[in-house]
This record gives sequence, C-alpha cells and structure tokens, in this order.
Amino acid sequence: MKLVIDNVSKNFIDPQGKQLSVLENVSLTVHSEEFVALVGPSGCGKSTLLNLTAGLLSPSDGSIYFTDLTEGHTPAMGIVFQETGLFPWRSVYENIAFGLEATGVPKTAQKERIQHYINLVGLGGFEKAFPHQLSGGMRQRVGIARALVINPDLLLMDEPFSALDAQTRTIMQEELVTLWEKTRLSTLYVTHNIQEAVMLADRVVLLSRRPGKVSKILTIAIPRADREKTENTAQIAEFIRIIWEHISSDARAALMEVEANG
Ligand SMILES: Nc1ncnc2c1ncn2[C@@H]1O[C@H](COP(=O)(O)OP(=O)(O)OP(=O)(O)O)[C@@H](O)[C@H]1O
Ligand SMILES: [Mg+2]
Repeated sequence: MKLVIDNVSKNFIDPQGKQLSVLENVSLTVHSEEFVALVGPSGCGKSTLLNLTAGLLSPSDGSIYFTDLTEGHTPAMGIVFQETGLFPWRSVYENIAFGLEATGVPKTAQKERIQHYINLVGLGGFEKAFPHQLSGGMRQRVGIARALVINPDLLLMDEPFSALDAQTRTIMQEELVTLWEKTRLSTLYVTHNIQEAVMLADRVVLLSRRPGKVSKILTIAIPRADREKTENTAQIAEFIRIIWEHISSDARAALMEVEANG
C-alpha cells in the first residue's frame, strides 16, 4: 500500500467571503511501513492536509489516492487527534470498541482484538476506567488503541502529544517508537515539534507558511531505535539544525509581515 498526495491544493472561503489559499500544489507519498512526519508553522495547512487524506474534506485541485492495494480492498484509516475526543460516558473498553461497532466484526472476535490493543498500549487493568479518571498520556493511549483496533492501512496522527507536559510527551514518544516497531503501520504524523519529528520519522516533510507548499523533504537514515544513542547525537542535532534553519526563516518572514501591517 502506498498513499499518494498528488499536486493537491485547497482553498477555503474566509468569514469575509474571500478565497483563502491554504495548500498549494502539495505532493508527497507515504510508502508501506513508512513513518512520515509533516512539520510546518501554525496555520500552514497541516491539519487540512490530514483531513483531506482522511476524506473528511475534498481537495480544490489535485488528488489523493492509494496504490499497491490488494484488489478490492478499501483502505481503512485510523485517526488520532490532538484532543482525543473520547466519549466521557464510555469506559476505556467501550471507547476502543466504538470503532468496531459499525464494522460487523462478531462480538467474540471484537473482544479479543480490543483486549489485544488495550494490552499493546499498556492499559491492561484500566478497561473499566472512564476518561476523567485517566491522565493525559493515558487518554492518548486510548485514542491510539481506538485508531489501531480497526486494523487500519494508514495511521493519521495530528499533534497527538501536544497537549501533554514535556516529560509525559517524551515518554509517549518513546512508547510510540516501540509500538510502531510492532505494527509498522504506514503513518502520516503532524507535529510542530522538530525534535519529535526527527526522533520518530523515516522522512520529514517541511511545509512552508500559508499557503502551505512542500519546501523540503529530509530522510532520517538512522534506525529509530538508535537515535537516542550518543554516537548519533551529532547527526540528529544536524537534522534539527537544518529543519530549524528552514522554519525560522519562514517564521521571521511572517513576523516582518505582522510588523509591516501593524
Ligand atoms: N473550514 C475552514 N474554513 C475556513 N478556513 C479554514 C477552515 N479550516 C481551516 N481554515 C484555515 O486554513 C488555515 C490552515 O488551517 P490548518 O488547521 O490546516 O493549519 P495547521 O497547520 O494545522 O495549524 P496548527 O499548527 O495551528 O494546527 C488556517 O488559516 C485556518 O484558519
Ligand atoms: Mg493543526
């Protein structure tokens, strides 16, 4: 399976009725078993691109499709949002079960699958807990399990850890690496956090400020499990420096614009 985003543009109509160009000629691919991180300044259209991929929006121009699919197979997508959007009145188990309810998977098979993912994200013992009884990190684990339980072909994640404190965030990043190595699901992951992108992704796609265009694609050719190792510190720092250089010139230009207008 391969996701192809082919020359996609998206315009919105702003509250004043003017056309707002949010994405311009964006092309990128996510290969089978590839983790791609999408990094760009606030408002550059990252969430829009994710929603287009999920089919929640349609492109103004260009197309998004899958290739290399088993014949007759419709690709399933698991989505994890920044705020998990868990149902407060449902338990952990029932929240994760939600995705399977519409699929017609028999109840006994559902049970097994749900329990498998509960254990995989480390929530064993919390099946009956309700979202308000969980920490932010645990809530995100429920969100991840809910996305995985449908056996998706593609995992879409929109800043899943941005609401967490720095320590929890680092732990969740490490857990995601472990989890990802077990599932090796094709993943498109949106983040503001450059360090996070470099620790998690096979490739990092940089979007320019609005209208978002692909400004650079970097391949992080260090095995994920070795990225914390001292011998790779310099190389990781260099990737972070290159990305920051790109993004900061954009951020500076945006700042100048604000100053000129103000
Ligand atoms: N439905 C909509 N109608 C009109 N404008 C929209 C709509 N959705 C998004 N926008 C605008 O499109 C632009 C891009 O939004 P988007 O949420 O994709 O950015 P983002 O890169 O995800 O930002 P952030 O990093 O803050 O999450 C913003 O200016 C936003 O106001
Ligand atoms: Mg967003």
